[in-house]
Parts: sequence; structure tokens; C-alpha cells
Amino acid sequence: MPNPAGPDLSALLETLQRLLGPPGFLTGADTVAYSQDWRRLYTGITPAVLRPADTAQLAEVVRLCNEAGAKLIPQGGNTGMVGAAAPAADGSELVLSLARLNRIRDLDAADMTLTLEAGVTLQAAQQAAAEAGCLLPLSIGSEGTAQIGGVLSTNAGGNNTVRYGNARDLVLGLEVVLADGQIWNGLRRLRKDNTGYCLRQLFVGAEGTLGVITAAVLKLVPRPRETEVAFCAVASPEAALALFGRFQSRDPAAIQAFEYMGRAGMELVLKHIPGAVLPLAEPAAHYVLIELATPREQAGLRGLLEKVLEPALEEGLVTDAAIAESEGQRRAIWKLREEHSEAQKREGASVKNDVSVPVSSVPALIAQASEACRALIPGIRVVAFGHLGDGNIHFNLEQPVEMDGAAFLARDHEMMDTVNKVVRSLGGSFSAEHGVGRLKPYMMPEWRGGAELDIMQRIKLALDPNGIMSPGRVLPQDRAARTGYPL
Ligand code: MLT
Ligand code: ZN
Repeated sequence: MPNPAGPDLSALLETLQRLLGPPGFLTGADTVAYSQDWRRLYTGITPAVLRPADTAQLAEVVRLCNEAGAKLIPQGGNTGMVGAAAPAADGSELVLSLARLNRIRDLDAADMTLTLEAGVTLQAAQQAAAEAGCLLPLSIGSEGTAQIGGVLSTNAGGNNTVRYGNARDLVLGLEVVLADGQIWNGLRRLRKDNTGYCLRQLFVGAEGTLGVITAAVLKLVPRPRETEVAFCAVASPEAALALFGRFQSRDPAAIQAFEYMGRAGMELVLKHIPGAVLPLAEPAAHYVLIELATPREQAGLRGLLEKVLEPALEEGLVTDAAIAESEGQRRAIWKLREEHSEAQKREGASVKNDVSVPVSSVPALIAQASEACRALIPGIRVVAFGHLGDGNIHFNLEQPVEMDGAAFLARDHEMMDTVNKVVRSLGGSFSAEHGVGRLKPYMMPEWRGGAELDIMQRIKLALDPNGIMSPGRVLPQDRAARTGYPL
């Protein structure tokens, strides 16, 4: 197959085909599903999708590609938001799918650890933990499709970060195939290990640029015995924050999720998602979803919920509230939150700003960024929602109803830069959980420039001297051109 942007890969592809056999080597029409991200922002072409059966085979694939100078894009469930896992449009990148590394290797209920391969879906991992009476405390909208390798490579956040941290905080050990094909077995299960650099954290969040995560040891926690979910209309983002503060001051360890949703996003969910119903008498401008959970028995979470909500209702912080009375109602409430991305996609073109600010600045972020975006593109719809409890708001922007979608997307940098200006003034970050991918490396010099970017660049050069791993992701290309580093 011709490969305009790199070496002639035909000999390599023949060798890989022999090594991997029919289930492990896909070409032509079979590669289409692997060549596009789920939002259809990045459509690429790949000479082949490589699907090794185990870590040893994957290591051999990487070794051969490194020798031939062939570029590799590790791919899990392909649910990413910033284009890291989709191949380039010039046909120069081979997709390395982790889908067949899908075994749970060990679950230790005494040590509360789960050892599993990168291609296990997050949902399958959660189920395995639940069957052993434990909880894997990581929950994201795409968990049915997202795979552990991708979840770790992007350091996914999600709904439970307020209590348990990001994916990074749940990893005790990793197995990684390095760019030269070496296997690093760091599958340790230790809660304390102070022996030099913390290598596993280099690969978590690296978006495939430093090596391929093939297996991991994750921390589990006891399963909740009591769970309460409430859905509230609140007077303002300030009221939402005040309510969060009240729960925090009473029992921070019970807050499993504290999510904010604005009017525009909720309208899209109610419009596009079959079965979505608002559990309140009237629509409102601002909502929060509160989940409390605890492994303690008879902890009285319902009492806590009522003790906080009742005065808040009297004071007008909360204007209406519904408490789930069954698992079905809990799921229906969560659906209103989880389907925001899907509803936005069905409505038309959107630009995502996955930003974070100190928790106390969330109301300022929503007010200031909304005003700035409305001034930039009249009629723009601000779809702000997300993880208020950890300061990560998805400040997403939906095209004006009358505007052409492509014309809207053509202005994505202007919109992102407008939001980022506000975020920066509030001491925040341009990417809280989605990562940098191919969409945002241009932001890195401004936000992470100087010594920080220099350190990242040197790590990249040390671990992937031939620049075969996920090139053009995370680190800016123009810097590569300036320094001569092969990214
Ligand atoms: C979520 O938390 O639902 C997603 O990360 C948000 C998004 O699609 O922007
Ligand atoms: Zn999120």
C-alpha cells in the first residue's frame, strides 16, 4: 500500500500479516470502523489495523514497526474526544487495536485489586468488581465501549472524581510495551512503593505517545450499601456551589457525584433522547444531580439528603427537587446527565471545552465564558454541564440554529480561545479530562511552555526516539520542527 508520508511499508505489512493471521490483521473495508472518532471529527485512512492476541505478540508488532519506522496509533474503544486514537488522513499510521487483550487476569477481594488487560471495557471491569462485592469507582458516559487501556492512557475523569480522583489515582501497577518492543512488567499491587521514579504515572495520560499500556492493576473500594440520588432545580450556579458546600461540610466522604447541568443541555436531552423525562414540575435554568453513597450500613443518607435539601428549598437555593425511590428512578435521573454528549451530537455541530477551574470559580466561569461566547457568535447555544464537585465543567458550545455546521466548526479555535481566556484568568486548565490529542497540542506552548514542555519533550525523545508512537498527539508539531525532535 502506498504510504505518502513515510517509509514503504509493504514488506513490514506482509510480515505483520503472517504474524497476526486473519483475526489480527485487517485491511480495506474492515478498517473503516477503526478510522474515525465517534464524533466524526477525524476521519483517517490506515494501511492496516493490527489486533494482536496477547502482550507478547503486541510487543513483537511494536518492535517490527519501530525497526521499519512505521507509525502506530494505539486504539481502545475509540470513544475519545480529541482525536488521539483515530489515524491520520494521509494513510501513514497503522492502528494498533487493544481489543483482543480482553482478559481479567486476577481479582483479589482481600487486597481490593483488579488486574486486567487493556482491552477490557470499563463496564466489564465494573461488573467483575461488583460480582466480588467491590466497586471500581470510575464512571464515564462511554463506559460500555471505552476500554481500560484508553481510560488510563487518557487519564479519564468522570462522575466520581470528586470522591476517588481520576483514573490516575486508581492505578497501582501497569504493564507497558515500550516503543522498542520491550515489555515493562510493573504489575505490582503495592499501596506503598517508594523506589525511584513513579514510571506508571508517565504512561497514564500520555495518550499513547510513550508506549502501549497492555495491562493494569486497579484499586477497588467496598461496594456501597446505601445510595441516594437527587435531582434538583437550583436558583443559579452560585446556589449549586453553595449546596455542594453544605454537603461537603456535613459528610464529604458520602459525595459520590455532584453534577451541574444548564437549561440548554437539558432541553437537548429531552428533545433527542427517547425516554428522557424531567422529574420536576417545571423546567429550570440550572440543575444539579447529587449522588450520595456509602459502604456503611444504616448510615442514614436519606436523612442527610433531606437535612440539607429542606432548608435549601425554604431559602430558595433549591427551587424544586426529586429524590429517586428505586433503582429505575436512579437510572432515569442519571440518563438525563449521561446523555448530554449524545444529545448534543444529534442536534448538530458542537465545540467542546473540557475545562477546569478551582471549584469556587465555577459560577464565575459559567457567567464570564457565556457572555464572551455570546458576544463572539450571536445565537450560540451554551451547553454547560459537568462535574461541579471537582471544578470540571464541559463548557460546550452548540451551533446557532440557523448557522451552517461546517461554518460553525471552522471557527472552533476562536471559540476555544475565547473560553480559555476566561479559564486562564481564573487559574484553570484547558483540558480537565479529555486530554490534548490532535485537537489541542497548539495550546501546549502557551499553557505548559518553558521548562514543563521541555521536560515532556525530553521524556518523549528518551522513550520513543524514532517518533513512532502516536505522532502529533499531545506535543505541538511546530516545536518539533524547531527542535528537530522526531515526534
Ligand atoms: C461527560 O462528562 O459527559 C463528557 O466528558 C462531556 C462531553 O461530552 O463533553
Ligand atoms: Zn466529563
